[in-house]
Amino acid sequence: MKYSVPRGTKDILPQETPIWQHLEAVFRRVFSLFGYQEVRTPIFESTELFARSIGTTTDIVAKEMYEFKDRKGRSLTLRPEETAPVVRAALENNLISPDNVTKLYYIGPMFRYERPQAGRQRQFHQAGVEVFGSNSPSLDAEVILLNLELFKGLGIRDLGLNLNSVGCSKCRPNYTKNLQEHFKENIKNMCEDCRTRFEHNPLRILDCKNANCQQTIEAAPASINTLCDECRDHLNELMKFLKIAGVEYVINNRLVRGLDYYTKTTFEITSNALGAQNAVSGGGRYDNLVEQLGGKAIPAVGFAVGMERIVEILKKSEIRNQKSEQGIILFLATMGEEGQVKGFELLKEIRSLGIAAEMDYLGKSLKAQLKVADRLGAKYVYIIGDDEIAKESGILKTMATSEQQEVKFELLKEALK
Ligand code: HAM
Repeated sequence: MKYSVPRGTKDILPQETPIWQHLEAVFRRVFSLFGYQEVRTPIFESTELFARSIGTTTDIVAKEMYEFKDRKGRSLTLRPEETAPVVRAALENNLISPDNVTKLYYIGPMFRYERPQAGRQRQFHQAGVEVFGSNSPSLDAEVILLNLELFKGLGIRDLGLNLNSVGCSKCRPNYTKNLQEHFKENIKNMCEDCRTRFEHNPLRILDCKNANCQQTIEAAPASINTLCDECRDHLNELMKFLKIAGVEYVINNRLVRGLDYYTKTTFEITSNALGAQNAVSGGGRYDNLVEQLGGKAIPAVGFAVGMERIVEILKKSEIRNQKSEQGIILFLATMGEEGQVKGFELLKEIRSLGIAAEMDYLGKSLKAQLKVADRLGAKYVYIIGDDEIAKESGILKTMATSEQQEVKFELLKEALK
């Protein structure tokens, strides 16, 4: 019996992990630079948390959740996203208040039962931020800048920023009415999902990917034309801040995003280096969610980056950080039982100096051991055979030049330093 990885998931293997480590290191550095602190929440939460926040009529909640019952019959769900869990954790641990700005970031796996394809998996990874406590458009701008800075830090270019405003609880009902008015005529010819959305959540119709529905969706009215004064001012201010920062964007009227919690700003960053699944990150403002999940009325904004898609871009463009390339400094090539014992002893001492070192565990010939050292990228090899044991010194070989010198056992540490 052979087992394979579950459909829609992937093993991240040693040849790829250096890219992930590099990505994570750059992200962490940029997050700290912007004043964010990390949170780690459980992989599963109560199903209710996601249903409440993301919305029961969204595809994520209606079709894509990994939902299960635990042994006590409680309904739990593998997190499909991290905004709701961060709000839950922040409220539970009193991390947010109306008088302060709280900046949190996360990196980790998310789960959605989607149809797998290039750039779309059932287990994927997100790195994201959530900021609580301010409704200033300057914060939306800063969050977008931070998002772009993450990509800049990796040397990724050729990105597009899509921007929209979906309004607030004051002006959204007008927009919903306009949408219903627009779709009324044609809804009978649209897909079943759209017909349900028409009744319960017309905004979601804009998310439909069904080819037959596209023409009617294309002609739908834009939300920015029904914004109240407050939302319009907020959008104008945000655009002003982006201009000051020299950030280019396009207003995309269809950008309502697949989650119901957004208010005012929504944005998405796309890459030209990817295929159909070209959104490398998405986010926006969600001023009602904290209150909706039992807290005070505290505004918030955030985004999440799809890490697999970034890894794909890095792999294609060969933008790599040399430092992330793994390699050892020293390989101990030992022969004979005594040589092996001595090697074992020296290995421990050398590693205690913080020098990456390795030895042979298979009793290979010297020639074969030198080959292994080469494969591991060792800078030096230290050879210990019976002769060397007798002299209490080994031969230190510099791999790049093949230069050799005799170095006493007790002086090896010094020589390496
Ligand atoms: P989202 O747009 O659902 O937003 O996901 C953010 C990013 O995660 C997407 O742009 C995409 O790069 C990646 N992603 C989503 N689904 C998959 C998948 N099945 N396979 C691979 N990558 C995927 C959110 O999740 C919000 N929580 C973002 C946010 C944070 N809004 C405010 N704060």
